[in-house]
Amino acid sequence: MTAPRHFLDFDGIDAATLRETIDRARTLKGRNGAAPLAGRTLAAIFESPSTRTRVSFEVAMGELGGKTITMTAADMQLGRGETIEDTARVLSRYVDAIALRTRTHETLVALAEGASVPVINALSDRSHPCQLVADIMTYEEHRGPIAGRTVAWLGDGNNVAATWVQTAAHCGFSLRLACPAACPPEPAIVAWARERGADVEVGTDVEGAVSGADCVVTDSWVSMHDDAARKGNVSFEPYRVDEAVMAMAAPDAIFMHCLPAKRGCEVTDAVLDGPQSVVLDEAANRVPAQKAILLWCLDGS
Ligand code: CP
Ligand code: NVA
Repeated sequence: MTAPRHFLDFDGIDAATLRETIDRARTLKGRNGAAPLAGRTLAAIFESPSTRTRVSFEVAMGELGGKTITMTAADMQLGRGETIEDTARVLSRYVDAIALRTRTHETLVALAEGASVPVINALSDRSHPCQLVADIMTYEEHRGPIAGRTVAWLGDGNNVAATWVQTAAHCGFSLRLACPAACPPEPAIVAWARERGADVEVGTDVEGAVSGADCVVTDSWVSMHDDAARKGNVSFEPYRVDEAVMAMAAPDAIFMHCLPAKRGCEVTDAVLDGPQSVVLDEAANRVPAQKAILLWCLDGS
């Protein structure tokens, strides 16, 4: 039996596969009448809330002719102590793929180790690879190839920041992160990217990161799986993306945010709703991005 194709993290997926997935996603917008996943079922499990990921997986499977069973962990025996390994073995007898949103990346890895069907990372405390397929697709729809461009990340060095770091290694753009000293991106992920030749700078200086950047990205200051009390003591205000920050970037820079946004915290209304913002395209592109991921996992192509 061949090993299932898991989509867990970009340190386990090569650059060519990521590039093919992004390019394929661009061909998979909307319905075209084909049903390559007819008869296939995805189990989507959420240990924490989701609007975009949950709905876009259901829509993506539906547009490919398949079905989705969406559950919260609390709906399942998982929520009262059944192990993730037993859950993996049982679900593998029913469904063709499993997507998991989890508080602990180790749970995702354990699910993949126990499953005989592909497992997809629907966000963990470590990373959010589905989001980055949609984000790179969105950047390239608006501005062309991202290779050689400069992206600035402001704010918390969280799971989405870490995935931008991994993506810089695979997609050849420069990434400058300005984060509070207490909240840098995961050092091991930065080291992994640099070992692969990525141009990734990590600091605390907003102007240094944003000056001349082609894309400015941020995310919530307190993530779902964070210790909110610890984060509450960090001064994030200097990292808010407002019009003055956008004015430091390249004149045609775009603004990105995976959403949900805490308006007035990490980004002002004027930027989030302004002409440089592509946040709704990022959200919309989660559907074709996940179609491409599902086809890679299930189709073997
Ligand atoms: N961006 C994203 O993953 O959003 P949800 O938490 O709503 O799924
Ligand atoms: N960093 C955020 C992303 C939400 C999609 C979180 O983990 O809560």
